[in-house]
Amino acid sequence: MPRQLTISIDGPAGSGKSSVARRIAALLGYSYLDSGAMYRALALKALERKVALSDEARLEALAKETHIELKPPTPELEVAGAKNRVFLDGREVTHGIRAPEVAQAASRLATVAGVRRVLVAEQQRAGAGGSVVMEGRDIGTVVFPNAELKIFLDASPEVRAERRWKEHQEKDEKFTLAEVLDEVRERDRRDRERKVSPLVRAADAVLVDNTAMGIEETARLIVMLARERQDELAGTAAGRHRAS
Ligand code: DC
Repeated sequence: MPRQLTISIDGPAGSGKSSVARRIAALLGYSYLDSGAMYRALALKALERKVALSDEARLEALAKETHIELKPPTPELEVAGAKNRVFLDGREVTHGIRAPEVAQAASRLATVAGVRRVLVAEQQRAGAGGSVVMEGRDIGTVVFPNAELKIFLDASPEVRAERRWKEHQEKDEKFTLAEVLDEVRERDRRDRERKVSPLVRAADAVLVDNTAMGIEETARLIVMLARERQDELAGTAAGRHRAS
């Protein structure tokens, strides 16, 4: 049996991480984990409780007392393009966390070191078994720095905004392309410039720019890289075996 990998996929909003990560997980028979959903779920709770997004101590305390669970989507949700099913303290919030104001709030509370410590520990627990594709901003740099395959997925801001805008259109949500581009640019800036665990490409991550590539093509390219990595690791193991 080929060596089971931990695959990290990091990149900015709209880079196609979720669709690509889900497809890779399906092709390899791995589980898929959307770390951004955890930040979004906590942001939803903070908004509901009217916790100021500048109150770092309260946000950290909120993170500690919150239980967030990610589950695989049901087949119907899968067809509709849903990612993980997300449960916030036992209540399903799969759809509620996708609103643009929740995304902005998530990006803001993700700048708080104490919040990140709590969520990173949960992500490490969730992915500890391996055979997993985890997507986010700091998976290859902080959550799983020893992941066997690291991908940094990117695309031009215009193409990323257009993808997000199309998703809103499909849900009958009325945002202009210019509004979505502004939202994407603002989040990009905050996610890349924050002091703790900013969005950066890990030194050993493979950069995949999919500005001109579809989901399937990008996923198959990464699956090819995964197979190569498995062969490489098997070769190293065989080499060690022969040498001993
Ligand atoms: O991937 P997403 O758009 O659902 O993520 C929402 C926000 O959560 C994103 O703007 C930044 C934050 N995030 C993070 O800081 N680290 C992660 N690993 C995942 C998401």
